[in-house]
Amino acid sequence: MKNIVVLVSGSGTNLQRIIDTIDNGEIRNAKVTLVVADRECYGLERAKNHHIENILIPRGKNFSSELSKVIPENTDLIVLAGFLSILKPELCEAWKGKIINIHPAMLPKFGGKGMWGMNVHHAVIEAKEKESGATVHFVTSGIDEGETILQKCFEVTENDTPETLAEKVHQIEYEIFPKAINKVLNNVPI
Ligand code: GAR
Repeated sequence: MKNIVVLVSGSGTNLQRIIDTIDNGEIRNAKVTLVVADRECYGLERAKNHHIENILIPRGKNFSSELSKVIPENTDLIVLAGFLSILKPELCEAWKGKIINIHPAMLPKFGGKGMWGMNVHHAVIEAKEKESGATVHFVTSGIDEGETILQKCFEVTENDTPETLAEKVHQIEYEIFPKAINKVLNNVPI
């Protein structure tokens, strides 16, 4: 059994999708052993609802060192699922190849500092992009710069708003995240 730690900051619908696709077998042979939040959020409630161990470590300069102390040694994968703090380089290095993130755009476009959540969708609309999407990638010390595992795009239409993009991106995320996790954990081809 592979052990996954999930980091959240928000509503945690991607966490829910991970829990559900482990349950339905889409993600094979895995278990969420711990959910860590960097602020009060609904993601924590989801962990509680599923009786998954959970902890709140307030965001700030000690977050990464506190996180290092609570990640079980037998963790196979750390998954950032709508997680908004920047992890310290030492932590990224210590867990190299074992931390992945989902980003609500087609990296390398619309990544980096300040590019998170609705900011991304506003930027995509403002730039009159023809397409957007989601990317699952390895986490390195460079923000949103690690190697891409899987990404998928869709067409942005004239009627799209940041809100409709957020909804469409979420649907793409629910599709590609379990596949990417299965690939990294179990080497299942995509
Ligand atoms: C997701 O769209 C995720 O890609 C984004 O936050 C949302 C979280 O939704 N993450 C980032 O912007 C990270 N830079 P959720 O809490 O419902 O899973």
